[in-house]
Amino acid sequence: MKIDGKTRTCGLFGNPVEHTLSPVIHNTLARSMGHNLVYVPFRVEDQQVEQAVSAIRALHLAGVNVTVPHKSAVIPYLDEMDELAAKIGAVNTIVPTGEGRLKGYHTDMPGLYRAMRSEGIDVEGESVLILGAGGAARAVAMLCATHKAKEIYMLNRSPEKARAVADEVNGLFGKEVLIPMALSDFSSLPGKEYVAVQATSVGLYPNCDDVVLEAEEFYDLIKTGVDLIYNPETTRFMKLLKARGKRTMNGLKMLLYQGIIAYELWNACEVPGELAQEVLVRMKAELAQ
Ligand code: ATR
Repeated sequence: MKIDGKTRTCGLFGNPVEHTLSPVIHNTLARSMGHNLVYVPFRVEDQQVEQAVSAIRALHLAGVNVTVPHKSAVIPYLDEMDELAAKIGAVNTIVPTGEGRLKGYHTDMPGLYRAMRSEGIDVEGESVLILGAGGAARAVAMLCATHKAKEIYMLNRSPEKARAVADEVNGLFGKEVLIPMALSDFSSLPGKEYVAVQATSVGLYPNCDDVVLEAEEFYDLIKTGVDLIYNPETTRFMKLLKARGKRTMNGLKMLLYQGIIAYELWNACEVPGELAQEVLVRMKAELAQ
């Protein structure tokens, strides 16, 4: 990679940032698309979020991703917000729009949507189960509501948390799109062909044998299971579904496409499908190390 006086710099704000796969995504894209751009991780402490955002302007960075724990903390220091990012209340991509102005976007959910579509999974007209009621689960609920799922159940260990998310999301959409439920009540679900999205951190490496729900009958109700976790490659949630011949997908393609959408925003370009595949191969190789 040639770095010279015209090289544009993009980066990631987060803490920690040591294990991120984002440099693999963006540096592969830049190299393959012939853009003179580098992408580097920046560790940002909680009390320095404002200075870090100012540095985007001062250093003329070409674009920044934001990860845990700063996705909401950056918002007060931005000039504009994309509609979806404002609705979700989280920013994972900052785009300089000229004259020092910065706009916040949320590409995780569009990334998940593109990833699911690339696997032939849609939510439109489907009955959806979301496991969890944290930030990721809430964003998945908004995605499913936006893309016209037939019905959405949010199952959580603490039902009051699912209720709070449902109240908020139903308020935003002006109708009862999200139905909260305790995980332990799954047997009262009326259907048996659900698209299920596992949106908790349960089963994440190194706790690979954990799963939110052990009950075998639960997995019979699901036709397609998406786990937002990508490490391990096949979570216990996915194994339980695969054992029943159900279709599954992990979160690696979501990570890939949230990056691709960010890259497209920063560079006003479109990443071809074959290149997305090439980046995915590189991400898998990096994870295997
Ligand atoms: P996020 O990172 O998406 O914001 P979070 O706020 O950390 O996630 O929330 C984690 C989610 O995982 C919650 O839904 C949590 O359930 P509770 O609300 O009952 O705490 C869920 N979760 C965490 N550990 C769990 C476990 N062992 N069994 C079931 N659910 C669990």
